Amino acid sequence: MDKLLIEGGVPLAGELAISGAKNAALPLMCAALLTREPLRLANVPHLKDVATMLQLLGRMGVAVTIEESDGVLLHCAGDPLPEAPYELVRTMRASILTLGPLLARCGHARVSLPGGCAIGARPVDIHIRGLQAMGADIRVEHGYVEARAERLHGAKIVCDLVTVTGTENLMMAATLAEGTTVIENAAREPEVTDLAECLNAMGARIAGAGTDIVTVEGVARLHGARHGIMPDRIETGTYLVAAAATGGHVRLTRTRADILDAAIEKLREAGADIRVEADAIELQARGPLQAVGVHTAPYPAFPTDMQAQFMALNCIARGTAVITETIFENRFMHAVELKRLGADIDIAGATAVVRGVAALDGATVMATDLRASASLVIAGLVARGETLIDRIYHLDRGYERLEEKLSRLGARVRRVR
Ligand code: EPZ
Repeated sequence: MDKLLIEGGVPLAGELAISGAKNAALPLMCAALLTREPLRLANVPHLKDVATMLQLLGRMGVAVTIEESDGVLLHCAGDPLPEAPYELVRTMRASILTLGPLLARCGHARVSLPGGCAIGARPVDIHIRGLQAMGADIRVEHGYVEARAERLHGAKIVCDLVTVTGTENLMMAATLAEGTTVIENAAREPEVTDLAECLNAMGARIAGAGTDIVTVEGVARLHGARHGIMPDRIETGTYLVAAAATGGHVRLTRTRADILDAAIEKLREAGADIRVEADAIELQARGPLQAVGVHTAPYPAFPTDMQAQFMALNCIARGTAVITETIFENRFMHAVELKRLGADIDIAGATAVVRGVAALDGATVMATDLRASASLVIAGLVARGETLIDRIYHLDRGYERLEEKLSRLGARVRRVR
């Protein structure tokens, strides 16, 4: 099992290109199931989760062609095998995003229930209820979602909770339904908007993506398209926090600031200087950081996927920060690992109180989930001495060539077997 060995104390400096967004790439690849024509995606990140999704789609009968460095051609010419087996779904919950497209394309689907994961139970009841409202007959048995629908019909769906993949699943299913679907309390995340843009380029008729009411007018069929995947806002935010925490100066290119306003404002509040261009963000740390409180909520509020990274920053900032996690019920597992590095953190339910300390000291720690791992990397970069992070397969799911990118910014980090 791979580990990351980091020698802390080096301020990150230099320029780095950001990859395509994992959480946009995953639904976009499932959109290929909605048409018999080829879908060309560019700016595809090289991630474990992307590889798993390509493997799953391949097993359904989608022809997958890797094109130049970051392009993928997906072609589902014939009816796909509408199955997503447990052994693949359990490694990547986003496989549930095949459910809506399979139902719309071929009228039935058998998708393993994605188990929970480290950060929470992660139910998919809103996905299921929405598809039932569109006329699907869905039973959940033996750990599988068994779904059938002659043809889905439009419906008005009100999501009890804001769900990103729930909104994406229902939006994709609605593109080929008979009539109009309205999704209320829809997720407004930029990845939803990116997916809607691609679906509309394929001939769908979606309005309101990026707002809390998405309207989809069903069409008879969709055609192929080319789509460049949006930049990864969480990868962007992770490197900005790492640069601020290490007192560095970085310039991130091939990214956008307008999809990360909440996190950028928090970094400014912490005392970092941030300059924004059309497709680049430059951060210069200015003296010791101030602790910043964080309250996670659906977009455009502060993203839950940036909570762990800001906890690491607050460990060595001046003052006390209160962090409230409102999205997932168990997303503080990085706290106990940060305390092994000398952090002063108290957890009470959905709230963490972080008191800044003068320094962290390197230790052996264990990654538990994707963003918790990123938090430990940031802490290792600022800690005195060496930090060894175990179970970094979590990192490989969501960060492309992490140690290579960090090394390019001057960090002393290497992967050890
Ligand atoms: C997406 O997960 C992201 N994953 C997550 O990123 C991200 O943390 C999350 O949205 C919140 O922003 C992808 O896009 C592939 P939700 P998703 O449905 O869609 C509850 C990462 O680190 N809920 O928005 O699975 C749920 O339990 C990952 O890249 C239901 O109750 O999250 C949670 O409390 C981690 N029933 C809340 O809603 C449902 O049917 C938000 O979950 C669906 C969700």
